[in-house]
Amino acid sequence: MTLDTNGQTSTFGPDRLTLTSLLTAEDLRRSLTEDARAGLSASPKWLPPKYFYDERGSELFEEITRLPEYYPTRTERALLTEHAREIAEIADAEVLLELGSGSSEKTRLLLDALTQAGRLTTYVPVDVSASALTQAMDALAEERPELVLNGVVADFDQHLGQLPAPGRRLIALLGSTLGNYDRPGRERFLRSVAEAMRPGEGLLLGLDLVKDPGQLVAAYDDAAGVTAEFNLNALHVLNRSLRADFDPDGFRHLARWNTDEERIEMRLVAQSPTRVELRELDVTIDFEKGEELLTELSCKFRRSSAARELAAAGFRDARWWTAPDEAYALVLAKR
Ligand code: SAH
Ligand code: AVI
Repeated sequence: MTLDTNGQTSTFGPDRLTLTSLLTAEDLRRSLTEDARAGLSASPKWLPPKYFYDERGSELFEEITRLPEYYPTRTERALLTEHAREIAEIADAEVLLELGSGSSEKTRLLLDALTQAGRLTTYVPVDVSASALTQAMDALAEERPELVLNGVVADFDQHLGQLPAPGRRLIALLGSTLGNYDRPGRERFLRSVAEAMRPGEGLLLGLDLVKDPGQLVAAYDDAAGVTAEFNLNALHVLNRSLRADFDPDGFRHLARWNTDEERIEMRLVAQSPTRVELRELDVTIDFEKGEELLTELSCKFRRSSAARELAAAGFRDARWWTAPDEAYALVLAKR
């Protein structure tokens, strides 16, 4: 399956398999232009993490999920293996809509359980990464000829109100992707998810929980250097999309536990005084030696505060499933 990214909205294939683009490559480049203009002129400098996920970034993320240090994926998979059936029964959904679906690998456990529960007709994977989405859909179309697949290339910061609702939905946000927002960002995001949902629909979140900082830092600074490459890939994206001249060898990956905010912060640290030209923006950015660019927050959760945030956003009847060592949780709440 290939996606034509020139049109605003493109739909392909027979009804059983559609791929809609609410976000073209050009839209994404435009929003990167705005975010880079704001973030790289700020102090400290920052960039939103959604730009990690070009084709290479999505591949690197998949590699991260297989690293021995990166426990979230396998812990979430174990929780889904054990509890997907109960989740499916409570959700009682005809449609699984997944935000930030990536490879949809763990999602198969939910698809199986929802199919067994008897009402599932449609899977709607939604991702900003067209390459990850098309690969996942190609594989699923072969594996599950009975399922209607409506993939959407979209930015869940912009397009929640435009996503398909061809029946009663379970909306999933797995992998602790909610943690990539800071608290005010989460509040906004959860409220807009709630606004986009109908009463009775379910929201399933995978949440990484606060734990030993040593284990957390190792998960974001692995021995094989894959996370470092993932982080540095943001500079390749800037070089390509904004005609910039970052030298990735001039920056070092850093993963730091912020105790007060209970989050991992990924940064890129300039190894020497560095001047970067962003020709697309017609600006020059200077880094001092040791200056940091914040590329990702990965907030870790506590059940009590996450439950309050869900309730404040308009969700009710939250049910929790927690890993035996309290490493990770799934929560299902109703709109
Ligand atoms: N759910 C998968 C992938 C998590 S990685 C898992 O649990 O393993 C985060 C995914 O969210 C990536 O595929 C990335 O491309 C996507 N993503 C990040 N920001 C996004 C945004 N603003 N809108 C849509 N997708 C986004
Ligand atoms: C997608 N997101 C929840 C991952 C995380 O753990 O914050 C992305 C990631 N960054 C570094 N490793 C993985």
